[in-house]
Amino acid sequence: MTVVRIKVPPHIRDLSPYVPGKPVQEVERELGLTDTVKLASNENPFGPSPKAVGAARAYLQDLNIYPEGSGYYLCLALARHYGLAQDWVILGNGSVELIEIAAKALVVPGDNVVMSAGAFAMYRIATLAMNGEVREVPMVNRTHDLKAMAQAVDGRTKMVLVANPNNPTGTYNSLRDIRHLLEAVPEDVLVVVDEAYKEFVDREDYGTAQTLLEGHPNLLVLGTFSKAYGLAGLRVGYGFGHPDLLATLHRVRSPFNTSSIAQISAIAALDDQEFVRDYVEFNREEMAYVTGRLTQMGFAWTPSVANFVLLDVPMTAAECYQRLLREGVIVRPMAMSGFPNSIRVTLHKREGNDRFLKALDKVCKA
Ligand SMILES: Cc1ncc(COP(=O)(O)O)c(C=O)c1O
Repeated sequence: MTVVRIKVPPHIRDLSPYVPGKPVQEVERELGLTDTVKLASNENPFGPSPKAVGAARAYLQDLNIYPEGSGYYLCLALARHYGLAQDWVILGNGSVELIEIAAKALVVPGDNVVMSAGAFAMYRIATLAMNGEVREVPMVNRTHDLKAMAQAVDGRTKMVLVANPNNPTGTYNSLRDIRHLLEAVPEDVLVVVDEAYKEFVDREDYGTAQTLLEGHPNLLVLGTFSKAYGLAGLRVGYGFGHPDLLATLHRVRSPFNTSSIAQISAIAALDDQEFVRDYVEFNREEMAYVTGRLTQMGFAWTPSVANFVLLDVPMTAAECYQRLLREGVIVRPMAMSGFPNSIRVTLHKREGNDRFLKALDKVCKA
């Protein structure tokens, strides 16, 4: 038997990797099902914008050419859309890569990264991969406790990571509280506000931290084309920050980290705001419908401002996940994020949501 003897450092050996959802085809093959509905990855149920698809298709004959290394035109389009100067924009292979890039640029052994318990699982992995210490702060009402997070910062803190709204809870922090966090955290600590679901939020006290960039050169604000824009498969996210901060991140960014098709399609998607608006509006209606039904059915759920909802089930999350799977409904068990009896379900079109509700009713009665 061949044995791999390479010297893996203990902090990598002991790292639990991110567990993505299984491919639909694989689930169907294993369980002998057809027509499953995937509600596990917060994807846009309407697909990508037709404009983005058209742009990708038109570019296919140029795949022999390397992408624009800095993402010049997409950065320009984002800068125009969000009213920023172009050198305040950086691209990532999904916004998750920007979290990894920030960790790679800043964290050395002995440093810590402050994050909330029950936050997006990749924060932990990005920190541990750099042999940094994960400093997890308990949530309050399943929401980031920003005051406690500011208090957890010490002389070895390199970053504070905030998901706003958060995944998997769907909860959010007000812009005022984000501002207070920035005021409380020393200027030499990077604050990352990850706004992957910002497009879905309609709360008066919510606002993008982009408006706080001016006075805070230690702020990085992240966004993505994976959720509201429906381009998760292309892997394209972006960050806004002071050019000197971005210059540090560029040092460890691989030169062609976003593909040409991703860049071209994202530009077209950005130009199709109607598509995003329609989905966001639809999602809002489905959120009211699904959560209303969950209440009628007697389930406790966490109020969510995003395109998914975390709900508590009368069994382990893993058991519920397996039972729903057998009904052809794929959700996400959230034990790994600290919710052993909760599943996260992405809102779909009405038919998919009804299938979920019906299956949930059946498996919880069984
Ligand atoms: C809070 C949060 N941030 C970032 C991401 C990563 O998104 P991307 O596809 O842009 O890497 C996700 C994806 O689920 C997320 O939930």
